[in-house]
Order: sequence, then C-alpha cells, then structure tokens
Amino acid sequence: MQLPHLLAPITINGMTIKNRAVMPPMGTGYGNADGTVSERLVAYLEQRAKGGTGLIITEVCAVDPRGKGFPNEIGGWKDELIPSLARIPQALHRHGAKAALQLHHAGRETFELAAGAMPEAPSAIPSVILGQPCEAMSLERIAAMIKAFALAAARARSAGFDAVELHGAHGYLLNQFLSPFSNQRDDLYGGSEENRMRFVLEIVAAVRRKVGDDFPVWIRVSADELVKGGYDLAFMQRLAPKLAAAGVNAIHCSVGVYSTPGNLAIAGMDTDPGFNLLRARALKSVVDVPVIGVGRINDPRLADEAIGRGDADLISFGRQHLTDPDFINKAAAGNYDDIRWCTACNQGCIERLSFEMKSATCSFNPECGREYKGAPAKAEPAKRVWVIGAGPAGLAAAMASAARGHRVEVFEKEDAPGGQLQSASKPPHKAVFLDWVKSSLRQLEKCSVPMHYRHTVGADELKQQRPEAVILACGALPATPPIPGLKLKIVADARDVLTGKVAPSGPVVVLGAGYVGMETADFLLAKGLAVTVLELLPTPPVTKLTAHGYWLHKRIKDGGGRLIFGAQVVAIEDAGVRYRRAESEHVEPATLVVTAMGAKSENTLQAVLKDLSIPFSIVGDAKNPRRILEAIHEGHKAGSEI
Ligand SMILES: Cc1cc2nc3c(=O)[nH]c(=O)nc-3n(C[C@H](O)[C@H](O)[C@H](O)COP(=O)(O)OP(=O)(O)OC[C@H]3O[C@@H](n4cnc5c(N)ncnc54)[C@H](O)[C@@H]3O)c2cc1C
Ligand SMILES: Cc1cc2nc3c(=O)[nH]c(=O)nc-3n(C[C@H](O)[C@H](O)[C@H](O)COP(=O)(O)O)c2cc1C
Ligand code: SF4
Repeated sequence: MQLPHLLAPITINGMTIKNRAVMPPMGTGYGNADGTVSERLVAYLEQRAKGGTGLIITEVCAVDPRGKGFPNEIGGWKDELIPSLARIPQALHRHGAKAALQLHHAGRETFELAAGAMPEAPSAIPSVILGQPCEAMSLERIAAMIKAFALAAARARSAGFDAVELHGAHGYLLNQFLSPFSNQRDDLYGGSEENRMRFVLEIVAAVRRKVGDDFPVWIRVSADELVKGGYDLAFMQRLAPKLAAAGVNAIHCSVGVYSTPGNLAIAGMDTDPGFNLLRARALKSVVDVPVIGVGRINDPRLADEAIGRGDADLISFGRQHLTDPDFINKAAAGNYDDIRWCTACNQGCIERLSFEMKSATCSFNPECGREYKGAPAKAEPAKRVWVIGAGPAGLAAAMASAARGHRVEVFEKEDAPGGQLQSASKPPHKAVFLDWVKSSLRQLEKCSVPMHYRHTVGADELKQQRPEAVILACGALPATPPIPGLKLKIVADARDVLTGKVAPSGPVVVLGAGYVGMETADFLLAKGLAVTVLELLPTPPVTKLTAHGYWLHKRIKDGGGRLIFGAQVVAIEDAGVRYRRAESEHVEPATLVVTAMGAKSENTLQAVLKDLSIPFSIVGDAKNPRRILEAIHEGHKAGSEI
C-alpha cells in the first residue's frame, strides 16, 4: 500500500477522518467584508476536499469584529453568520472530508482598519512588525472574549462543522497572553507562568462547556516563539498537558510568531522540509491526545515517514494545497510526477496577502482562487496557436490554450525550456523552481503539444506560416546601463554565471543588490569565492521582512560577503570596479564583475504581428519585467482567452 501511515484513518473524539492529511488554516482574503463566506472561498476549499485531503481547517474566523486580522476575515461573532458558515461543511462533506473552523482573535497583530477600532491586547505594547498601537484589555473585555470563543464554537457546531480549532499560535491574542514578550500584565492574567496560561485555559474550558463533551475541539500553538524574551519549547511542554486536561482533543504544533527571524511560521525555501517535526515529537512525549505536525512539509512521503516514526499523528500540508489541490489523490495513486510542488517562495500567497494587501493565490498555480469561475469552455473553433518562448509565461499559456482544445505549438530559441527559471533555480535552495517546468512539460506532453527547441521565431517565419493566434512570451534580457567598461572580458551577466556559461573566479564584484544580485552573491559565496555587492540605492532593495530576504542577508553576512549601498559605479576597469560613494571614489578589485542591474523586455515581434494583423497577446516579462507570478498568471489568462 502507498503511504500506509498517512492514508490510515484516525478518530479524534468521535470524528473519524479518512486519512491523516490535513489542510491547515490559511487566510485567503476571499471572504466578504461583512464576515460572510463567499462563493469563491467555498469553491476554493471544495477543490481541496475533492483532492483527497481528510481534514480541512478553514482560515481564521474572527470571534469578535475587533479581533479581525484583515478586513474581509470571515466571522463567527453572531448567530446571523451561521447559515453562511454552513456552506463550508456542506461543500467539504460532499467529498468525504471533515471540516474544522479556526476560531481567531488577532489581538495586537492587526490594523485599526481591519479591527474597526483600536486593536486590543494583553498589554498596550504595539506589534513589533506592524507598529500599530493597541489597548490593554480590561478584565471585563477578557471575560467577554472568553465567552466570544465559546459562543463562536457553538455556532460552528450549529453550522455543521465537525470540529473547531482555537488559534493559539503565531503571536495572535491567545499566544500574546502566553508570552512574556507581549504580556506584561500584573493581574491574574499576567506575571507568573500560571497567570499567563490562565486566559487560554479558561477559553478551552468555556468552549468545552458550551459545545459539550462529544465535539472535537483542539488548539493550534506555536511550540516555541523563537524570539528573544518569548516562551520556549519547555514552556509549551508544561502547558500542553494542562490544555489536554482542560479539554482539547488534539494539539496542532506550529512554531514562531510575527517577530520570529526568518518567518518560521511560514518557512520559506531556505528552511529544510519538516524542520518543525522535532517540536511535534516533543509535544507528543507529554500528551496523550493526537498531535498535528506542520512546517514546510509538502511531500506526502515525508509526512508518511514522520507519522510512521511517531513524530506526529497527522500532518498539515499548507501551501502545497495552494499549489496543487489534488496532490493527495495523486500521491495515493503513486503519480508523483504529476504533482506540482510548492517552492515555498511565499510570493503568491502570504507575502501577497500581508505586504500587497491582495487576496492570496499561488505563483505557480494560476487557478488558485479562481475555482469558482469553473473550467473555461472548449474552444470553438480550435485555432492554430503559436506560443513564442518557453519560459513560465509561455508554458502556462500553452497549457491553458491546449486545455481548451486549441492546436498549440511552442517555440523556444534555447535548447531547453524554462527561460529565466534555468538561472533562477541555481542559487542555493532554489532547485525546486525547475520542478514546475518538469510538471508543465509532462502536462503539455499529455496534450500532445509540440515543443520546438533551438528555434528562434522571426518575422519571415510568421509571414509564411501565419498562425491564427500568437502569444508572445519572449521574456526579458539583462539591462545594460551605459557604464564604461561593460564590454570588458571580466564582465558577465548573472544569468550566465548561474547557468555555468561563465566559470566564476574571485574576487567577484556583483553590480546590483536586488534579488538577482543577492542570490548570485549567495551562489558565489557558497563556492568559496570572495564577493562584494555594490548597490546604488542607499538601503537594501531586498527586505529582511520576507523569509527569503532574511536568510539571504544572513547567509551573505555569515559567508563574509560585503554589501555596499549608495555606491554609484563610475567605470569597470581591468583591475576592478571604480565607484563613487559619499563624495569619494574607490576601486573594488575584481577578476569577475557580475551584472545584475535589472532586465528589459524582449518584444520585438510585436510590430511584425501588428503588420500581419495576426491576433496576439504579450505576457510575462515580455510585457514588463516582473516575477514568476505575473508571468504564469498572465500566460494562463491569455491562453484561456483565445
Ligand atoms: C537569477 C534569477 C532569479 C530569479 N528569481 C525569481 C524568483 O525567485 N521569483 C520570481 O518571481 N522571479 C524570479 N526571477 C524572475 C523570473 O524568472 C522572470 O520574471 C520569469 O522567468 C519571466 O518569465 P517569462 O516567461 O515572461 O520570460 P523568460 O523566463 O525570460 O522566458 C522567455 C523565453 O523566451 C525565449 N525567447 C525569446 N525570444 C524568442 C524567440 N524569438 N523565439 C523563441 N524563443 C524566444 C527565451 O529564450 C526564453 O526562454 C528571477 C530571474 C533571474 C534571472
Ligand atoms: C497565505 C497563508 C495564510 C495563512 N493563514 C493562517 C491562518 O489563517 N491561521 C493559521 O493558523 N495559520 C495560517 N497560516 C500558516 C499555515 O497554516 C501553515 O502553518 C504554514 O503555511 C506552514 O505550513 P506549510 O509549510 O505546509 O505551508 C497561513 C499560511 C499561509 C501561506
Ligand atoms: S506562492 Fe510559492 S509558497 Fe505560496 S503556495 Fe505558491 S509556490 Fe508555495
């Protein structure tokens, strides 16, 4: 049997789940501003239930409007919301999945705009990351919130949910009470460890009283805050048995809070798969209730081993559910080659939600969040479609138009597909980016789409062959600002260094500290070379607030790399790079100068297509150099709309 541990059923307080695969809560931004559940949210969740997952825990659901973490967070704060909430279990039950509602209060980790009032917290200490001022909760308000959790749990039961999860993790209100980092009260709810545990234990007890003994209730915790001044794993090992005694039927073992360096709660590609299982195991050693493990686990085989080893009883796969909703069914059938893997890039999901204030999706799955629109209709009539460029935009366009039944051909001037993903996958921890190319090629092969490599499409060919529609996905080429000496032999572009077209030697000077420059520096440092990065901007363009940004900065610093900001390159010379900084000129010695100063669109065929009156669309970097998300999503849209 494939995955004997992961696919075995388990019963939690009378609720039998068909397998141990869990979709953990993930805020999407698909809810409505009045707290109701939207058609979009239901369709997105239902797609994941169809994919074979046993237990689906909804995203955060506010128990009180003032506890909302984002403006369209779904709500459970009044009875009128029950019929809307009921749509979720109804949809999930159709596919044999169990449905749990995650009950949430954000405390200080929100904005006044979302909470509709000054956010409240154990103490009036603003969120370190958000900086939003907050108010310390009165004893009356504490009592009201304990009641709010209990009432919301009862509403979840009335709505047909099989269980509730209390959000005690990630630095939100419950976690804030537990932590000396955010709780500096001197009353019954703060000070000693026992007092800091009180609010959470009272919530568990109140919820249990309200929903009865036969309803599954569990809590999600951050097993270790991993912040200076916060609580640690030993604290959680003392709390966990008390939680079980107060009435929880399971513990969902997450890690980290907002301020944890490197965002380990939603660990990026730089963190090892399964890194948090050791904490699940530590909690399992102190409680008898099932423990749900989570943290950068996307491969069902890893989950199966973890359960088999006794690290956890169930495993949550978070972002993997966004990238491929069917991965559990595929894994159960042994079709690993068909799985589209999450890269842990965070760009399309959590960073889009929290930094761009847009609803979550997945960079590599353009259908994530669009399930409610249904599959596009078959093409009538089927057309002869040419896709020029086999980078992410071109491959996504080809898949979408082939799925509609068009006769698609893909042309690529290089000898392999992937475009810039070839170089983007070379820096440390990024090899997984090429997996998307492999799974896309497999899909195109299934649709019998011819792939023409080493084939540069030009004006003459378009004139002769006259395809009925063209998608221009020619990407972008490195930008070449007018710097004297750029043509010297010691100069190479980052993409050529990363793909091995140019053999690196040190000392190296990298020009540009954007992601491409920083990742190239990381790549070269890992090879043992001395690296200096020169950047014109006075502050780092790559923020340490993102998981990848944080680890990039850390590795470069730890590896002895030098980052020099506010450096204006004057010229490249045989011996190195001359630059001006703070009114004085310097020369940084180099045997290799790597350029990473942006990209410019390659869209020269546009004029030809206009002349020939061939319908076309331009997608991805060819339109404007941006990211994988835009390339794949635009390619998909263009392919779907022909
Ligand atoms: C080192 C590096 C790291 C990166 N890391 C990230 C990251 O972590 N996250 C992120 O979001 N983005 C990243 N990017 C950017 C990302 O790779 C691009 O935004 C994305 O690849 C753009 O996709 P595209 O399909 O539009 O173009 P491209 O990937 O450039 O693909 C275009 C393809 O078209 C082909 N082509 C061009 N003209 C013709 C023609 N006339 N005939 C046939 N074929 C043609 C090219 O050979 C190429 O294969 C990175 C880029 C680099 C260089
Ligand atoms: C877009 C996004 C939103 C999230 N929202 C929530 C949430 O509402 N509640 C919660 O407890 N965790 C939330 N998380 C954390 C996930 O539940 C999960 O613990 C995390 O993604 C790590 O698991 P993974 O590595 O399998 O993705 C969110 C994660 C993402 C990516
Ligand atoms: S955007 Fe990146 S991290 Fe988020 S689900 Fe997609 S691949 Fe995973």
